[in-house]
Amino acid sequence: MERIVVRGGRPLIGTVRISGAKNAALPIMAAAILTDSPSVLHRVPRLTDVATISTILRALGVSAEWIGPDSLRLVPSRNGPVEAPSHLVRQMRSSICVLGPLLAMRGAARMATPGGCVIGDRPIDLHLKGLNALGARIEINGAHISGRADRLRGTSIDLKGPYGSTVLGTANVLMAAALAEGRTLIKHAACEPEVQDLARFLNGCGAHIRGIGTPTLVIEGVKSLHGTEHTIIPDRIEAGTFLAAAASTGGEITLEGLRADHLRAVIEAMGRMGVEFHEAEDALTVRRPGPLQAIGLATSPYPGLPTDMQPQLSALLCLTRGISTVREGVHPCRFTHVGELQRMGARIVQGDGQTIIEGVGQLHGAHVTAADLRGGAALMVAALAADGETTISGVDQIDRGYQTLEERLTMLGADISRSEAPPAEQRHRKSA
Ligand code: EPZ
Repeated sequence: MERIVVRGGRPLIGTVRISGAKNAALPIMAAAILTDSPSVLHRVPRLTDVATISTILRALGVSAEWIGPDSLRLVPSRNGPVEAPSHLVRQMRSSICVLGPLLAMRGAARMATPGGCVIGDRPIDLHLKGLNALGARIEINGAHISGRADRLRGTSIDLKGPYGSTVLGTANVLMAAALAEGRTLIKHAACEPEVQDLARFLNGCGAHIRGIGTPTLVIEGVKSLHGTEHTIIPDRIEAGTFLAAAASTGGEITLEGLRADHLRAVIEAMGRMGVEFHEAEDALTVRRPGPLQAIGLATSPYPGLPTDMQPQLSALLCLTRGISTVREGVHPCRFTHVGELQRMGARIVQGDGQTIIEGVGQLHGAHVTAADLRGGAALMVAALAADGETTISGVDQIDRGYQTLEERLTMLGADISRSEAPPAEQRHRKSA
């Protein structure tokens, strides 16, 4: 079990290249199940979540092999198994995105229910509603999902949920509808760039999807899909995390290879905090000319402020000298970072789906634990700015979504290292 040690207080300065988006790569990799010939994906991030979906795909008869530093070749098989290994599905909630492709391509699917996680309940009712509307028959028995589908048929489906649409639910229904007979209309489809990227990949495979990037997707089903070559979009959350890290340390960095248009809400929120941005083609420079300002934030589905940036921006707000409010409008329980930031001296009051943050100006080093991916990223942002040394445990959470993070932060001037946790700490975490 590893931990990261950060000696804070060094401004980040330099240039960093943004990786491909984890949340686009995962469903696109699952979509290979739908195809009848190989695909090559470029700009795939080397992350543990990508390794996990690769292992699930291999268990389903789809080979996933690195053929370059960030290029992955996926070779489908028409009649592979239909059961995704339970221990992997439980490990990574997003493995639910093999459900639609298995039903559409192989007529059956079996997997464990992905269950809840530390950021909330994470139900899958909208996934099931959409797939059942297409003609699948899905049953949940305890912790098991099993589904059958003879021929899926296009229909009209509304994916609106209590917190807006569903990203992976839209992905699942979209993938199944691509091979359904006739036309499917998805209302309240998620508009996130990662869903758009999946739709473009599917169209590259021969699907007919219109309305990409809007809440209404129209899919004319086709009989078969072939493989294609596709480059994954840049990771807007990785980019946003670097922006927050630079702002927390009062540094100046340039991000290359990103899509600034996917980060409008983050740029707008950080602009209100007093952070400055300079946009050039394919690059974005961020600097903090003065003290950070307290503001009110509210997350919402795209194009709103992404929930996946809420913990990192909350860490930034701890560094102001005023009162900020943060409303979490997508995952109302996503606050694992709060108690850990408090260990670093933050003053945060947590209520129902929201926090009030009294900025303390300066955080101090402490021993903290990442309980989830973006909560861990928030601790990193805080640690880089804190006085003294911060030790972050639970590094496996951070590794799910950020590749070579320490190397890249070191290149930007951070004092950061990774080491094995001492045996006593390992015993403690295993029993936790
Ligand atoms: C995706 O999860 C992302 N994961 C999450 O990123 C992200 O936080 C989330 O979208 C929202 O943007 C991947 O893409 C792999 P949702 P997803 O279904 O699709 C409720 C990260 O840090 N809901 O859009 O699983 C749900 O409870 C991860 O990289 C239902 O009510 O999220 C939540 O409140 C964490 N019924 C809201 O909708 C359903 O059937 C949005 O969830 C499904 C969801």
